[in-house]
Amino acid sequence: MVLELGKEYPLAGEDKLIDILLASLSQDLDDKGQPMLRQQHPKSHGLVKGEFIVDSNLPEDLKIGVFQREKYDVLIRFSNGSNKRKDGHLQSDMVGDARGIAIKLLNVGQNNNEQDFVGINHPVMFIKDIKGYLDFGLVQKGMVEGKVILKPGEPPQVDDEFREPFQASAYAFGILKEIAAKATTSPLDIIYWSTTPYKLGEKAIKYQMVPHQTQTFNPQNAQDQDNYLREGIKQYLQKREAYFDFKIQFQTDADKMLIEDPTIEWKESDSPFIKVATIKIFQQEFDTAEVKQQDESLSFSPWHCLPEHRPLGGVNRARNKIYTQLSEKRKLDSH
Ligand code: HEM
Repeated sequence: MVLELGKEYPLAGEDKLIDILLASLSQDLDDKGQPMLRQQHPKSHGLVKGEFIVDSNLPEDLKIGVFQREKYDVLIRFSNGSNKRKDGHLQSDMVGDARGIAIKLLNVGQNNNEQDFVGINHPVMFIKDIKGYLDFGLVQKGMVEGKVILKPGEPPQVDDEFREPFQASAYAFGILKEIAAKATTSPLDIIYWSTTPYKLGEKAIKYQMVPHQTQTFNPQNAQDQDNYLREGIKQYLQKREAYFDFKIQFQTDADKMLIEDPTIEWKESDSPFIKVATIKIFQQEFDTAEVKQQDESLSFSPWHCLPEHRPLGGVNRARNKIYTQLSEKRKLDSH
């Protein structure tokens, strides 16, 4: 098949697969009497305020969507990916995990809409499509049931019924291992990638957020190591502002830079990231009950967007219905 730049190629029967995934994620959402948190990325390290400042010297062909205006107020939420709990507590920050960023530009466009940008600290997603997500979910179920047993240094033990999804998930385990091996000094110190593609007008891009500051915190010095990522942001922002560059990368080769498979990195050697804006996070106190409540009441989604920035590809198509329905469900529960 000859692939075209910016074009989507949905899986056959994709809508049905999305419904199956939504149903299975909804089942996991019951937090047994606790207030319902996000199904993914439930642990927040802080909701902070800042500004998204578009570069003043952008070439005309990049002045599309939000990049047409000078400045926006933003809310930014930092998170861990894992929804695992032990004794009612979400996983310790000392355990390797995907670290998330979610940025909400406020009062965007003519209708005062929101534009969200969502990233993780790795250039690629761990599953390529919805079928991949469902296979991975089955393997996790097998692990809970003791029918898939993985021990470091030992060959995996897999019951026949889980063999097929287990084999199909080998690449996902590889990517998750790379993500878990990454050290994070503070969420303010690391690079985040969209992993999935988006429109920029008629073209397709991925995006990236690159910090100006590095090594701002030493986890060994934390008062509470299980929650040191919040402590790191808190200590830094008490004294000064933090900054990230917001960069975009154009899809320039439809065969190498796939729209439908976010496990394949778009190489910078094929198309470099270009800086288009600066994210400024104010000096502030954010670790309050009020801000935590606001954090839980918010929803971030790649589908909170101007049409010029519409999400592309199967993983993003699935996120439309899934983020909408699961975030509504958790908010209903908390009332
Ligand atoms: C089919 C694939 C995916 C599914 C099913 C999924 C599911 C979810 C769900 C249910 C939430 C919580 C929504 C809410 O309650 O408000 C969430 C949040 C999040 N997801 Fe995904 N996700 C997927 C792909 C991705 C990808 C590719 C990324 C990479 C950037 C990502 C990064 C995040 C982040 C950072 C959050 C936290 C947002 C916040 O702070 O509110 N997800 N995801």
